Amino acid sequence: MAAEPTHPTSAERTTPADITAAVIRRYDGCPDPRLREVMQAFVAHLHGFIAEVALTPEEWTVAIRTLTATGEITDERRQEFILWSDTLGVSMLVDALANAVPEGATESTVLGPFYVAGSPLREYGESMAEKDSIGTPAWVHGRVLDTEVRPIAGAELDVWQNDADMLYAVQKPEGPEDHLRGRYRTREDGGFSFVTVRPVPYPIPDDGPVGRMLRATGRHPWRPAHIHAVVRAPGHRTVVTHIFDERSEYLDSDTVFAVKPSLLRHFVERAADDPERPEGVGGPWVSLETDIVLVAGDGGAPIVDPGRTA
Ligand code: BEZ
Ligand code: FE
Repeated sequence: MAAEPTHPTSAERTTPADITAAVIRRYDGCPDPRLREVMQAFVAHLHGFIAEVALTPEEWTVAIRTLTATGEITDERRQEFILWSDTLGVSMLVDALANAVPEGATESTVLGPFYVAGSPLREYGESMAEKDSIGTPAWVHGRVLDTEVRPIAGAELDVWQNDADMLYAVQKPEGPEDHLRGRYRTREDGGFSFVTVRPVPYPIPDDGPVGRMLRATGRHPWRPAHIHAVVRAPGHRTVVTHIFDERSEYLDSDTVFAVKPSLLRHFVERAADDPERPEGVGGPWVSLETDIVLVAGDGGAPIVDPGRTA
């Protein structure tokens, strides 16, 4: 009589699929149904991805080192995890799923890491330049409307952008900290107006693991020129958006995938002696007119500053 085998039979071998199924089953008892759904789908997709590309131990070690470096470079000024989210298109996808708007309403896009709450409240028409700039002066104006094209009085536009040196004020500890950022309230006719400088394209911070990924994969770190705006009004959904310069470079290859065609706007070139020249502006300048259309509803989740990337 043949002896019983002392090693497992092939029917008892553990396959990659067995491992995935065991991990998914481990969450069956999760008391929060949403957390259960998220964790089980996360495990299924993560394991599916690893199995699909047959990830090697060496590659997984590189991934662990990359995550470690991401944590090490992140502090209260630098947020490398958000840069991963942005450059992998996750920020845009999460935003698109949460903030779909009807035709005609202003579309949302990424907040980005340079938002700082508490910008100074400025007067209608006031410049948000706190120092001289070599950039082209720009006058930006328009109206905040509802989807029935009715003006919204008392809406707040919280705007920020970079200067001609490509940097945001928050990236320059030497200040002035309020340069090219401000909050403006709309008038009775829904109108807003401010003076600034024409924004320029700029690279996202690329001296960390995200920058290494971009270089290794042949991607560039550039964003097209834009002005950021968070627009709020009582009884309306807050929109986090950009005004893109339609003539900018990188509109077709924004490294964070944030360009939406409906957000492109035209800067009109104006001569130094143009009678509409804003006070204090000398030399050639540009103007941009844009309306912002808000959807009725409650304001939505407050804007949380998850830590900056300077
Ligand atoms: C920005 O537009 O400020 C930005 C967005 C994503 C990553 C880096 C910068
Ligand atoms: Fe930006």
